[in-house]
Amino acid sequence: MPHKQAAIQSMSDPVTNTPLQGASASPFDLADRPAYESWREWKLGVYPNAVEQLIVPINNPHALEYDEKKALLACCKRANMAIYQLGTGSESGKELVRALGRQFGLEQLDNNLRADEDSITSLRVVPEAGKTHYIPYTNRPLNWHTDGYYNSPDEQVRAIVMHCVTDAEEGGGNGYLDHEIAYLLLRDENPDYIEALMQPDTMTIPANVEDGVELRPAQSGPVFTVQPLTGTLHMRYTARTRSIVWKDDRNTRLAAGFLAELLASDSAYIFRHHLQAGQGVICNNVLHRREAFTDAPETGPQRLLYRARYQDRIRGTELNNVWSGV
Ligand SMILES: [Fe+2]
Repeated sequence: MPHKQAAIQSMSDPVTNTPLQGASASPFDLADRPAYESWREWKLGVYPNAVEQLIVPINNPHALEYDEKKALLACCKRANMAIYQLGTGSESGKELVRALGRQFGLEQLDNNLRADEDSITSLRVVPEAGKTHYIPYTNRPLNWHTDGYYNSPDEQVRAIVMHCVTDAEEGGGNGYLDHEIAYLLLRDENPDYIEALMQPDTMTIPANVEDGVELRPAQSGPVFTVQPLTGTLHMRYTARTRSIVWKDDRNTRLAAGFLAELLASDSAYIFRHHLQAGQGVICNNVLHRREAFTDAPETGPQRLLYRARYQDRIRGTELNNVWSGV
């Protein structure tokens, strides 16, 4: 059964479904099965089977050595993420987050509501009553999501750097799943699920209103889009069940259910890792979650992570740089 081309129409002739002159095949085009099969085989072949394969020791985050940068990029090409590990006693200022990102083409920071003045957010428990319903600033678990799912389509978060300054006394581990693997498993299950999740109104986040003031309007959009400049896949998702409206059609419901079950499972594709002090993640906004955690008593160390969100994607992970085509 032929499938609509959803968000990638610009890459193929809408009538014949043949690639336009100069356009390369897209594995994310539901009409291009050979491209998908080829990409799928490549992806499953290179995807790491243990999180340890994603950990790269680095000496100076301000000036990566050639081999360090190559190793980090290789991880990002395979799994859209890498974990760097600073040497003991390394500095831990916010500047390192910015400097590291720049070496991967990450420049354009996303401005969210709670970012500090320099747009890099300090994630820690903030006790003030007015902020505690923002779960990132509590010690409660954070369910599966990609960052910026409530952003407008032209301000999507494509990459994140998250650096751990101090880890929690207990808990606070993360789960990660490359969103391309989520796409692959959904498409293998039923290509109609992909079509459903590419609809422009498949997932709506209601407006953010505080004290009668609208801080952010309602935001509708697809879960999966193909980025026209890089040919890469972007995912917008939250597993939350409150303050989210899924499109009321059968395939969207089934697709969202399949995804929720996958993320709640012990799938071998999901990486689990507790960031230690001095470790950080650089990723193309893959799916992630956080466990609840407990800080030490008042005088002890409190969990602190710096997080930078970017509108850019990691340079060197464009489709034609990771996959050689059909
Ligand atoms: Fe997040």
